Parts: sequence; structure tokens; C-alpha cells
Amino acid sequence: MSIAPRPELSNLEDYVPGKSIDEICEKYGLKSAVKLASNENPWGPSPKAKEAYLSIVETLHLYPRGNAPKLIDALATKYKVKVENLILGNGSDEVIDLIGKAFLRPGDVCVGVVPTFSVYEFTTLEAGAEFRRFDVGTGKADIKKLAAAVDEKTRVLFLCSPNNPTGVYYTEAEILELLSLIPKTTLLFLDEAYAEFAVAEDYPKLATRLDEFPNLFLNRTFSKIYGLAGLRLGYGMGNAEMIKNMWKVKPPFDVNLAAQAGAVAALSDTEFVESTRKHNREGIEVLTKGMSELGFDVLPTQGNFVCIKIGEKFQELLGFLESRGMIVRGLKSFGLPGYIRVTAGKPEENAFFLDLVREWVKG
Ligand SMILES: Cc1ncc(COP(=O)(O)O)c(C=O)c1O
Repeated sequence: MSIAPRPELSNLEDYVPGKSIDEICEKYGLKSAVKLASNENPWGPSPKAKEAYLSIVETLHLYPRGNAPKLIDALATKYKVKVENLILGNGSDEVIDLIGKAFLRPGDVCVGVVPTFSVYEFTTLEAGAEFRRFDVGTGKADIKKLAAAVDEKTRVLFLCSPNNPTGVYYTEAEILELLSLIPKTTLLFLDEAYAEFAVAEDYPKLATRLDEFPNLFLNRTFSKIYGLAGLRLGYGMGNAEMIKNMWKVKPPFDVNLAAQAGAVAALSDTEFVESTRKHNREGIEVLTKGMSELGFDVLPTQGNFVCIKIGEKFQELLGFLESRGMIVRGLKSFGLPGYIRVTAGKPEENAFFLDLVREWVKG
């Protein structure tokens, strides 16, 4: 008989990632496939990050500096925050995990605006806490109603903006209203993993107001616009006291040498970020126009992906696309059966996707 796990684990299901290129090529005997399923950067890593990555190879026998001072300084300068306001993680997945470790206990309650990224629920359940779903479908939370769903017992409110998978975002005025209505004892975990893609004028810029809102936490990542998903580096910003408690539960060397060097370089590569943002918007427009012309509803998005209503035959479409070497994400596991999420790719990848859908529609 094996060792019994913590009882909380009985509530957990395995995380289901998007299918990999290898998996699909093997299954259908294909030489290549295109993956527009995990909101990665189709333009690859920032060239400056690649250079920095290669430059550390001779020092791989050394431990990284756990507090990553160069990276923390670079982030503090970029956001005009104090170094005490910053935490790092092995991907922002780990940053979310640190929230669980530092602030959640069995019996606690968290609220999550769903459908959304599943790791918030996973972290909550792992801690033995309860995850209450505030379901907004493909729409947006009414701020007053959302605030009313939160009370003194709510430890964390998870809100993703732009939201994965719908692309919906919340304005600065809405976030400020939410902060004014929820208890000061509820941590607002605002996941801004896709913030850099947002082009809306009223997208929040709250990093400089962390002292004013000690219960606000902003989550960010290098996996998306910086193109470093494989390096695993996420970070977050919050009030110094909150951050100090997160450092206490963080494994000391989880942010590796390559990730630290790559991220510092990527931050300085503003040209790459700008060009990715521009290409992304072009890709979003092409996908939106193409799918709308084929008669599908495409949700407006501020991210690097579009959420599209396919209807009853969505599984058939997913199967057809995969058999032809195109991987996109079905949203049944997010609670949106009938919908798919497609990451904006390079022009030829977007064209390939649209050609395949056209072919499928014609039957
Ligand atoms: C909203 C959101 N937050 C966080 C993450 C985690 O990203 P990472 O762990 O690569 O930083 C993702 C990944 O897709 C995401 O969509």
C-alpha cells in the first residue's frame, strides 16, 4: 500500500495542457504541425534574450542568485516600484502557487471569475480551500455584483484581464471600483499575463499605486509577449508586506540562471516587444475578419488569442484541424463547450488555419 496523500488531493484533477506538435505529428503521421493552442509568441524568443541565454553556458555549474538582484532591479525600474514590491516564480504558475502557500489554509474561501485559467482553482483546492465560481460566461463581471459575492471570509479574489480564454478586459476605473468595494482583507489577484498585448487606452496601469492598495497583486509573465515560455519565469507586484510573505515560501533557486539572464535582456528588447504587439494585432484582425466572414462569432480580444463560437460541431472541427496539422484549443474543459481559442500566429499560420476552416465548412 502506498503512502496516503493529503486529503485535499482527492479534489484535484491533472492539469490538461494544449496538445503538443510531436503528439499530433505522431498520431497523424505528419512531418510538421502548427500550434496555435497555448498563447505562445509565434515570433520566438526575443533575440536579446537568446544571446543572454547562450552567454551563461560556461557558468551552469554555479547556483543562481536566489534573489535575482539584476532582474529585480530591472523590473523595479521598468514599473517604477520598489524592489520590495516584487516577487519572482518559475513561471507565473509558481507565483500563483506562492499565493496559495502564503495565504491559503484549509477551510478558506476564494472567489474566481470564470471561465478562466484553471490554475487559480487548482491552487485553491490544493490548499484545502473552497473555490467559488463567479460565472460570467463569455461576458464580463458586473463589478457591483462581483463585489457582493465577496465578503470578509474571502481570502483571494482571482480576476484575469485580459481574460484567458475570452479576451475580455477590465478598465482601470472598474478595477478601482472593485478595490473600493471589496474588504481590505481580500487579496485581489489580478492576472495580467497578457497585459502587454492590450491596446485599449483604459487598460489599467496600477503598479505605481501598490502602496495605496495593500490588497492588490498584479501577476505578470515572460512567457507571452517576451516569448520565453520555455524558460519559466513569472513575476508579481504587490505591497511590500504581502511580497515579504511570498518570498518566505518560495523555493530559493527556482528561478534559474538562464531565466534570470534571459529576462533581463528581454526587458531591454523594447523593439521586439513593440514588433510583437504590432504583429499580434494584425494577426488578431486577420483571424477575426476571416472567421466572421465564415459566419462564426468571434469575441473582441485584448490578448494574443481569439475565442470563437463554433457550435455543436466543435469537436469535429478540432479533429479535422489536428489531422491536418493545426492545433488549437477546445474550450470544453474551461466550461465553454462549442468554443475554441486560437492564438494569433504568423501570417502564414493564420492563413493556414483559415484555409482549413474554409475547407471544413465547405464539407
Ligand atoms: C492567464 C494566465 N496566467 C498565467 C499563466 C501561466 O503562465 P506562465 O506560468 O508560463 O508564466 C497563463 C498561461 O497560459 C495564463 O494564461
